[in-house]
Amino acid sequence: MQVVKQLQELNEALSTESNKSIGFVPTMGFLHHGHLSLINASKKKADFTVVSIFVNPTQFNNPTDLENYPVSLKEDLMTLEKQEVDLVFCPDYNTLYTNEKPVDITLGKLDSVLEARKRKGHFQGVIRVVNIFFKLINPNYAFFGEKDYQQYLIIAELARVCFPQIEIIMCPTQREQVGLAMSSRNSRLSTKDFEKANEIYRVLKYCKENFDFSNREELEKTCLKKLAEFSEPEYFEIRHSDDLLNNGDKLKSWRAFTATNLGGIRLIDNIALNQ
Ligand code: PAF
Repeated sequence: MQVVKQLQELNEALSTESNKSIGFVPTMGFLHHGHLSLINASKKKADFTVVSIFVNPTQFNNPTDLENYPVSLKEDLMTLEKQEVDLVFCPDYNTLYTNEKPVDITLGKLDSVLEARKRKGHFQGVIRVVNIFFKLINPNYAFFGEKDYQQYLIIAELARVCFPQIEIIMCPTQREQVGLAMSSRNSRLSTKDFEKANEIYRVLKYCKENFDFSNREELEKTCLKKLAEFSEPEYFEIRHSDDLLNNGDKLKSWRAFTATNLGGIRLIDNIALNQ
């Protein structure tokens, strides 16, 4: 496994593999089973797997969140070695952003609802860094988790407009035995809050079991109330899976999305409701 930090090293490493298909898994480190499932998917699909580790400051709307973001580069590299990843790219801020050519795409509703409404500028930061990575690595496939479903849709749109040669692949959310979606942030939950956090998935499953096109506004309110019994919810919303609108097309596929806080830790999750 090669570990590179500089652009020149990255280019050299990639140019020797130019006859291979490349799978790319971008991460912010502090790896867990969710990341490993993306890496496995890449290893199955592509000849050469590249993982990036970079805590991207431009996507944090809250400086304290950035300061507290868990980092474990040494452990991560050991994990990636065991997974037989081919190349790890862990650049610093200047290496990535110095010659940035900004990307200009229209995201419409995708960048104005749910997470975008609560975390101003977050997805613009994600797009900036993923745009840089895609230009540098030019993978055949890139892998993203279903837990960050809105991010997946936004990156799929970035690829559709600017990188049609890259296939964006969404991999299912990995959950703790009791249901909590795996996330690097879970490590900051107290034992008590960790147990409580499992209720989030119960509420999502309740929503799925009781979903009916005609009752969705009532159901949103009920689920929000259920979340408020053990946490501080920011939203619980039922929206179309493809464009995140909620103007009501019965035949469309629908998804429930939520963000809630436990002991100051912000957790997000979502579930497909009908298809
Ligand atoms: O999902 C994440 O970990 C990040 O948003 C990503 C895609 C690595 C960009 O920094």
